[in-house]
Amino acid sequence: MSRIPLIAGNWKMNNTRKETLDFLSSFLPKAENLSVEIVICPPFTSLNTAAEKLEGTKVKLGAQNMHWEENGAFTGEVSPLMLKEIPCDYVIIGHSERRQYFAETDETVNNKIKSAIEHNLTPIVCVGETLAQREEGITLDFVMGQVEKALKDVAAEDAKKIVFAYEPIWAIGTGKTASASDAQEVIGAIRNKIEELYDKDVADVVRILYGGSVKPENIKELMAEDDIDGALVGGASLKPDSFYAICSFNI
Ligand code: PGA
Repeated sequence: MSRIPLIAGNWKMNNTRKETLDFLSSFLPKAENLSVEIVICPPFTSLNTAAEKLEGTKVKLGAQNMHWEENGAFTGEVSPLMLKEIPCDYVIIGHSERRQYFAETDETVNNKIKSAIEHNLTPIVCVGETLAQREEGITLDFVMGQVEKALKDVAAEDAKKIVFAYEPIWAIGTGKTASASDAQEVIGAIRNKIEELYDKDVADVVRILYGGSVKPENIKELMAEDDIDGALVGGASLKPDSFYAICSFNI
């Protein structure tokens, strides 16, 4: 089963509109010869600027979060309709920083996934364990629990549209990458879990990324694993050169 590799840049709370334009002016000319699917996820304030610059290119646009309702009294939130209008193609859901600092729960993650799919946005759903959970030996149980709760009441045809990102929290922004085989172990287990919840057909098409200190030096090794379909890249996606080096891992 061949799944198209996906490299997504999660800029987090970085890059003003001017910095977004500077990044894209340098990155886009080089990106034309890349064969993987590429997504950048700037902060909300830069989405519009990025969308104008990305028009007619192969690079796609994603947001870093959204509310599940279309509109209403939710001060500070952004809705799927608003993202679609930009237009965004992707939205990151349930990043560990949002779970940790902004009280995202498995339930809100599930609501957001269903809403994203309904609005034709591809959710990139983040799951991953803490260092304490890894040391306790409960990584697989914990992550499979997150996957199962994320997929509650999601139909098989919709589940196929989801991208998962396995991001061990201890590897995010720390310079510590999970070894390729550790990442494969969890990502392979996620694929098995999807097969158990649906069937092989669904499990074969869902793309599962690895995230956590991905850089040009380790991307090849990660991508060589059977079940790893790409990467969600934080720090190394902020510089056009390092992001390009990651996106061109197969050239
Ligand atoms: P990092 O972040 O690449 O800086 O570790 C990854 C992420 O949080 O998505």
